[in-house]
Amino acid sequence: MNININEKDRSFKIDTDNTSYIIGIADEEAFIGHVYYGSKVEDEPLYLMRTGEPPFVPSRNNRDRGSFMDTFPCEYPGNGLGDYREGAIEIVDDGGYSAVGLTYDGYEINDGKPRLTGLPATFENESSKAKTLIIYASDKVTGLKAELMYSIFEGSDAIVRSVKIVNSSDKDIFLTKVMSASLDMDSEDFELLTLHGSWARERQIDQRPIGYGKTSVGSVKGESSHQEHPFMALVEKGVSQEIGRVYGFSFVYSGNFLAQAEKSQFDSVRVMMGINPGNFKWQLRPGESFQAPEVVMVYSDEGLGKMSRTYHDLYREHLIRSPYKDRERPILINNWEATYFDFNTDKLLAIAREAKKSGIEMLVMDDGWFGGRKDDNSSLGDWNVNEEKLPGGLKYLVDEVNKIGLKFGIWMEPEMISPDSDLYRAHPDWAIQIPGREGTRSRNQFVLDLSRPEVVEHTWNSIKNVLSSANIEYLKWDMNRQITDIGSFGLNKENMGELSHRFVLAVYELQERLIKEFPNLLLENCSGGGARFDPGMLYFGPQIWCSDDTDAIERLGIQEGTALVYPLSSMGAHVSDCPNHTVGRVTPFETRGHVALAGTFGYELDITKILEEDRAMIPEQTAMYHKYNKLVRSGDYYRVASYRENGYYDCYGVVSKDKSEALYTFVQVKGRPNYHSRLIRLSGLDPDKKYRSDESTEVFYGRTLMKAGILIPGLWGDYRSKLIHLCEV
Ligand code: GLA
Repeated sequence: MNININEKDRSFKIDTDNTSYIIGIADEEAFIGHVYYGSKVEDEPLYLMRTGEPPFVPSRNNRDRGSFMDTFPCEYPGNGLGDYREGAIEIVDDGGYSAVGLTYDGYEINDGKPRLTGLPATFENESSKAKTLIIYASDKVTGLKAELMYSIFEGSDAIVRSVKIVNSSDKDIFLTKVMSASLDMDSEDFELLTLHGSWARERQIDQRPIGYGKTSVGSVKGESSHQEHPFMALVEKGVSQEIGRVYGFSFVYSGNFLAQAEKSQFDSVRVMMGINPGNFKWQLRPGESFQAPEVVMVYSDEGLGKMSRTYHDLYREHLIRSPYKDRERPILINNWEATYFDFNTDKLLAIAREAKKSGIEMLVMDDGWFGGRKDDNSSLGDWNVNEEKLPGGLKYLVDEVNKIGLKFGIWMEPEMISPDSDLYRAHPDWAIQIPGREGTRSRNQFVLDLSRPEVVEHTWNSIKNVLSSANIEYLKWDMNRQITDIGSFGLNKENMGELSHRFVLAVYELQERLIKEFPNLLLENCSGGGARFDPGMLYFGPQIWCSDDTDAIERLGIQEGTALVYPLSSMGAHVSDCPNHTVGRVTPFETRGHVALAGTFGYELDITKILEEDRAMIPEQTAMYHKYNKLVRSGDYYRVASYRENGYYDCYGVVSKDKSEALYTFVQVKGRPNYHSRLIRLSGLDPDKKYRSDESTEVFYGRTLMKAGILIPGLWGDYRSKLIHLCEV
């Protein structure tokens, strides 16, 4: 990897092992242009900025400045100065004007990568160092300055971008839009791949052509959301796992976002990603700065699979900090689907005793243990134990669970406040609401106004008190509603547009305090299932609950979409009871285990009540987890076949970095009558190594298994699954 400046031609070249990213400075006015992003090249093809073609560069032909601005491939486009495509930055200055245009001032190239104040961000580690380019730019009229930051890491093909805006004038400037990255390219008929969803159907892969005009996904829900996801990829038509050009963009942020592609009249495409400008207005006083979150760009010319593996490695090695990152996580049993709100100490201890017999290692007590909470209508904010359900309190329960030989974990939803709670009765102004309007309830709860320091302090003390009151080794941090009614009793009118971002910054601050104060705690983030499954949250906790849908078949699509960007080690996945509580489907217990194995693995059922034959399989499954978890956690992920595409079966594999071991999971979603065994061509193996499967004495070259394939014998019935474990011989 390297970053070079060519002083003579005024251009910058960022090289990762396999990709190049080139920026050029054009004209005496020093416009910052985007030259090239793609497979690694030796040269700097500055002609791609097309500054020599009519319409001419403005300083030579000012009459055509407008058409120049509207076609120039701009590295970080401004607003309102002749470029009618959407700008990456928009402002309102002291005179009420919204125009802004950033031109080049200078640069810095440094070893390492600076932290982004208050924000989650990728970092260098011992074995893979970083290099960073900062391009300094400014708007010569308003005095607004920008630092465009680009970082790369040894051994990774990711390029990480972010932007810092500084007000160097002596007047207030309001930022109304600050994208973290923008990229102008020739459109080349790319298609847009995004992850769409809903509650219980998160991150379904969606692909569509990029037409003229704007195509976008985004969230204004105060979190990254179930519905759209802070990721998009521009893909070549016909892209597959192994073939085709792919540009991936992943946003390291957990709040409102916008990801957009705009195809222009000249068939260029402008891609941008950043905080959603909807409801956003940030006051920047003289001397103040605003740090935008970062975007991780990955280019692959070998299809989607290589892009996914690049993201997985980067997020495992350069984003997730938890000490559990490289450790087996305890196999947990969570009581949510087992009991919902109807539990007490005896019920939990009965589950714990039975769980211990089967090799389960931790009991997690979910929602309903605090205040007067009997259902989801009350008590959020009252984080004191309900002694009616848990006589003797948390300490007694946790000690008893520990005596059984299990660890203990707990559920909290710290950002919330129920209208029916002591906290709300004492501080009604602590909820996000617009004075004079009846607050919009969702799940009968409001969201705490974390833009207020006293609310953050109170929330922190609640979390700390709970976690210090007993030997609690895991926290499931939930967020069960989205934010609306953007109003704070603590902010004045100039700053109301800061609420959503300030809320996210406060969540980050709370989680930072949490991991500093409780460094050995295993943190699992969650949001009504997987509505806040994003890289921002992974910076604090190594795993995120993927979805409230625990049905093994629904999970195939959810986990496929999630694994497009995120490592399997981060995907919360459990075996649950049947008929499944979300879709009513009945699947074999074995299949549920195989599918959950692709994530963190655990149980979400009443182990004292399930069928004897299912319970009898749990020791086998927990042993299977211990056997394969290291491989699943640290290996390379290969998507072999997708039920979404073929309608019949799913197959994916994990291959160890040294290619000496591989585990493939095959799920036959639909049985097929009168059908022979199915041919599957494996991927990811070393063609020159020889492998044997656990079930056979025969040995084959990786090349044979990948080119000729293997045969999966017909399985009897729907929803059947099979693991194929290969070891090098
Ligand atoms: C959310 C979570 C569930 C469970 C419930 C409790 O929906 O995703 O796993 O914790 O909240 O209310």
